Amino acid sequence: MSLILDTFEKKQEEIPIWLMRQAGRYLKEYMSVRINIERFLDLCYDPIKATEVTMQPIDKFGFDAAILFADILVIPDALGVKVEFAKDHGPILEKIKGEEDIDNLYFSETKLENIYKSVANIRKELPQSKTLIGFSGSPWSLAAYMIEGGSSREYLHAKKMAYNNPSLFAKLIDKLVNAISIYLIKQIENGAEIVQIFDSWAGVLDEYNFSAWVIEPTRKIVEQVKSKCPKVKIIGFPGAAGTNLKNYVEKTKIDAVSLHSTLSLEYALDNIKEDVVLQGNLDPVYLLGEDKEFIAGQVKKILELTEKRKFIFNLGHGVIKETDPKMVTYLMDLVKGRR
Ligand code: CP3
Repeated sequence: MSLILDTFEKKQEEIPIWLMRQAGRYLKEYMSVRINIERFLDLCYDPIKATEVTMQPIDKFGFDAAILFADILVIPDALGVKVEFAKDHGPILEKIKGEEDIDNLYFSETKLENIYKSVANIRKELPQSKTLIGFSGSPWSLAAYMIEGGSSREYLHAKKMAYNNPSLFAKLIDKLVNAISIYLIKQIENGAEIVQIFDSWAGVLDEYNFSAWVIEPTRKIVEQVKSKCPKVKIIGFPGAAGTNLKNYVEKTKIDAVSLHSTLSLEYALDNIKEDVVLQGNLDPVYLLGEDKEFIAGQVKKILELTEKRKFIFNLGHGVIKETDPKMVTYLMDLVKGRR
């Protein structure tokens, strides 16, 4: 077993920690690999290099889990949508405009085979005491990217299709549910012990549509994955879900929930059943500051509040690229009680 998997069974004295986006551009070690690769997705599809950058934060900070290095947008890519990462511009996708584009999506599983090789490779390199986390984007967040053609502030086009043409939108969501379920099952079969579903944009939907396009598709994925891989643990990350969180956790039957920084820990403690592991939720922006005493206070507050709960320390969103790695070491020491 490992500290993180043990935490799913019962609260551990030592608090486990890993960070979303723990690999990436804030590390000079990552940049020295990245600089030699033109297209970001080529790094995701290179099992040797993806293994190397996955292991970097484990070797440097000693986190309790490694998260597979890839991106949520490999699923649209495998469905035949053109995906590019323009420098300093975020992702750009060929837009899904209507029924014909949705009908033309075809899931090419062979495109993802190198990612499964990365998973197997990482599991081999990682000590048994550390957990390997696989992941995927969620149907709603991926559909939102595919319809908008990239990041967006409000996801208006995606919401418009979901609200005004639900039967068409459901066709897209169903294709994503199917591809994501297969993708996660393959990661687990190759050595991932936990999978996390990133639903970064769950927070833009009203209650009715949150239920239809976040909860229900996630519930189906959990059901399909668990029917093939009953031992796997599944973490959900429903962006800034607010008070939809309770329903999300209860209806999807996930094993753990990753809390966004905007969510009050007290709300989660009061509303999420004790058998569900909580993960989170320090705001990553704190790590950009220099005031160590202040950060120590915030971390202490989180640890005290979760004292009686099964808990995995994490951020409430990904590490920001301007973060000084020294602050991550400091955070690690705080959580492990070395400071
Ligand atoms: O360390 C890890 O967490 C594993 C790897 C990982 C990446 N992206 C690597 C990456 C994971 C788990 C993701 C998830 C992801 N990708 C999410 C969900 C989490 C979240 O932040 O809400 C989202 C929304 C994406 C989509 C995405 N990928 C965006 C918006 C960008 C551009 C970001 C930017 O600041 O330019 C990416 C690119 C990306 N994914 C990078 C990395 C390390 C940077 C690309 C580069 O090195 O050039």
